[in-house]
Amino acid sequence: MNIVIFGPPGAGKGTQSNFIVKKFKLHQLSTGELLRKEIRDNTELGQKISSIINSGHLVSDIVVSDIIEKYISNNIYKDRLIFDGFPRNLNQANILNKLLKKYDQKINIVLKLSVSLKTIKKRILERRLLEKRADDNEEIAIKRYETYEKNINPVIDFYKQTKLLKVVNGETSISKISDEISALIEGI
Ligand code: AP5
Ligand code: MG
Repeated sequence: MNIVIFGPPGAGKGTQSNFIVKKFKLHQLSTGELLRKEIRDNTELGQKISSIINSGHLVSDIVVSDIIEKYISNNIYKDRLIFDGFPRNLNQANILNKLLKKYDQKINIVLKLSVSLKTIKKRILERRLLEKRADDNEEIAIKRYETYEKNINPVIDFYKQTKLLKVVNGETSISKISDEISALIEGI
């Protein structure tokens, strides 16, 4: 089983992915985490992308699709991936489809976490105190939200057409959301 989870910044993609990974024995593929690791490790790629990430824009589709192909092509992860934060635009949705076909896989369910900008700001400012992510301040959080809103509608339509899309209210408690997601996955 492969799962896509998407939603605005602070929607709970990472939080819910952690839960799904444990419960359903999958592997989390968070493009944001992997890109931040490149920055932390000060790799050539990390140096190129740090200003993009820290301004709330999207890194190029080629960079992220190269990263995800490494996982999709690896037999260890075959039919065990949860894509956290990918795809983020229509081109990435098409790339994901092509890559999965190439490696004889598919998406089984797409989870969209819906959260208001007010909640996003609150969560990101709280997390900032704990994790010290360079892109976690109010101004960049708003920019990340705008980037999301600008690109995501065609992705939503894309997954609506394939009948894979399930919309989950991301405003309730972490455990309530996990229960709802669990039921959706078990219902596949
Ligand atoms: P990414 O790392 O994906 O960041 P994001 O989309 O902004 O989302 P976050 O990680 O901030 O939030 P989340 O939804 O995971 O929420 P979390 O569970 O942490 O991407 C970062 C950047 O990388 C992008 O801006 C872009 O530049 C680049 N990038 C990444 N993917 C890319 C792609 N595909 N293409 C191009 N560029 C890409 O929760 C947030 C906080 O809220 C936590 O503290 C958590 O404990 C708390 N919380 C969670 N759920 C609840 C709840 N229900 N109630 C109360 N608190 C909660
Ligand atoms: Mg995250």
